[in-house]
Amino acid sequence: MDDLIKKTPEITELILKAAKTAREQTSMEPEPEHIQPVDWPIDCTVGPGLEGAIACESKIGYVNGAKGALVYRGYDIFDLCAYCTYEEVAYLLLHGDLPTRDQLNVFKHKLIQCRPVHDTLRVLMGFSVEEMNPMAALRLGSNLMRQQFSSVDMDLENIDFSSIIGTDEDSISNATTPMGEEHAIYEFERSVKEQKELAKADDYDTCYHLISGVSTIAAAVARVREGKFPIDPDPQLGHAANLIYMMTGKKPTPEEERIMDISLILHADHGMNASTFASMVVASTLSDIYFSVGAGISALNGPLHGGANEAVLHQLNEIGSKENVKSWYEKARSEKRKVMGFGHRVYKAYDPRARVLAPLAEYMSERAEKSKELLIIAKELEQEVDKHLGQKGIFPNVDFYSGVMYSAMGIDSAMFTPIFAVSRVAGWTARVMEYMENNRIFRPRARYIGEFGKQCKPINER
Ligand code: SDX
Repeated sequence: MDDLIKKTPEITELILKAAKTAREQTSMEPEPEHIQPVDWPIDCTVGPGLEGAIACESKIGYVNGAKGALVYRGYDIFDLCAYCTYEEVAYLLLHGDLPTRDQLNVFKHKLIQCRPVHDTLRVLMGFSVEEMNPMAALRLGSNLMRQQFSSVDMDLENIDFSSIIGTDEDSISNATTPMGEEHAIYEFERSVKEQKELAKADDYDTCYHLISGVSTIAAAVARVREGKFPIDPDPQLGHAANLIYMMTGKKPTPEEERIMDISLILHADHGMNASTFASMVVASTLSDIYFSVGAGISALNGPLHGGANEAVLHQLNEIGSKENVKSWYEKARSEKRKVMGFGHRVYKAYDPRARVLAPLAEYMSERAEKSKELLIIAKELEQEVDKHLGQKGIFPNVDFYSGVMYSAMGIDSAMFTPIFAVSRVAGWTARVMEYMENNRIFRPRARYIGEFGKQCKPINER
C-alpha cells in the first residue's frame, strides 16, 4: 500500500464508511441488459441529445445509474479510492489493470518526465492568460503542447485519396438500415494495420504527456491569475501533491494530498459523458489526441457538465445562509432554474462520487471556517431539494460537494473545472486509445423536418 494511504487512515475510514452505506442502500450487481457485448446494428431507444444511444463497446468504465454505482475496469470506485492512488488508477484506465510495483514505478517516472512543459508555458505566457477563462487557457495550452511535441500531422501529400470509397451517409435514403459494419467502408480505404499505425501515432507516451502536461499548465494558469509566476514541478512529489504545490507554492499536508488524490480518482472517468464523447468524436476523424483533449476541455467547461462545480459555489454564496435556503429554492423552482450540482443523465440514485466527496468536504471544512458555513448551506439545500426532487431520482452529483472541498483547501473557484479536466485527461485518453483500436467515424443523423421545393428569388424580391 502506498505510503500516502498508510499516513491517512482516518480518510480511508471515511471512504469505507461511505462504501458501507452505499452498499446497504443499493445492490452492486450490474444491470445485465447493459453489459452484454453488442451485436451491431443494435436497437436503441434514443432520446434528444443521444440519450440512451449505445455508441460503442468499452471495458474501461461502467456507470450503474439505477443503483448509483461506478466501476473502472471491474474495480468498484469506493475500493479504488480507499486503496489506490491516482497514478494507479490512471494506469488502470489506460492499460486495463492495476500496475505491479515495477509497472507503477516506470509509469510514475514517465509522468514525472512529462511534467515540465517549459516551451509550451513560454508560448502560453505570451497570451493574457490572467484575463482568460481558465478553461480557455487550458485548452490553448494543450494545443500548444501539440505544437511542441507532436509529430502526428499526417503527411497528406502522400495519401492516395482516390482509394477512398466516398459515400456521404446523408445521400443514403433514410430507409437504409445502419450497415453495422465492423469498420467503416467509406473512410480512408487503408489496411486496418496502416490505420492502426496512423492511430498509434498517438501512442501511450502522448497520453502520459497530456496527463502530466495538462496538470502543469492548469497550475501555471492558477498562478498567473494570482499575478504570480508559475512554479516548476517537483519530481519528488506525487501527481496530486505536485498539482497542489504548483498551484499554491506550498507542499500539501498528507491529508490535503490524499483528499486531492481521491478527488482526481473520482473525476477520472465516467462513461460516455459529453466531454469524453467529444474527445472520441475528434479522434474518430483520425485527428489526434492533442485535439481530442482540447475538445474534451471545451465540452467540460459548460455549466451543465464540468463547469457545475464552480456554479455550485456561486449558488451557495448567493444563498448566503442556512436560513435563506428555503426561500431561495422556492424562487429557483418558480423560475424553473436547474439547481447546480443536482441531477444526472444516468444516475437516478445518489452519485457514488458525491457519497465520498461529502465527508471529505466535511473533513476539510472542519479546518476552514468559511467552508464550514458553505457546507451547512449545502447540507440544508440537499435536504430541501430532496423533499421535491428526490422522488424524481434527482440527487447530488459529483459537482455538488467538490467545490466546498476545494474551497476549504484554499483553491479559487475558477480552478475547480480545470482540476476536473486535470483528472479527466486519463479517461479521455484511455477511451480514445480504446476506440481507435476499431475506429469508426462518429456520424449520427439529424432528422430533417424542414421544407422542400422552395424557389430561389433574386435578392431584391426576397
Ligand atoms: C457532470 O454525463 C456525465 O457522466 C457527467 C459527469 C461526469 O463525470 O462526466 O457526471 C459530470 O456533468 C455532472 C452533472 C453536472 N451538472 C449539473 O449539476 C447541472 C445541473 N444538472 C442538470 O442540468 C441536469 O441534471 C443534467 C444536465 C446533469 C442532466 O440533465 P438531463 O438528463 O438532460 O435531465 P433533464 O434536464 O432532461 O431533466 C429531467 C427532469 C426535468 O424536469 P421536467 O422538465 O421533466 O419536469 O429533471 C429536472 C428537469 O427540470 N432536473 C432538474 C435538475 N436536473 C434535472 N431540476 C432542477 N435542478 C436540477 N439540477
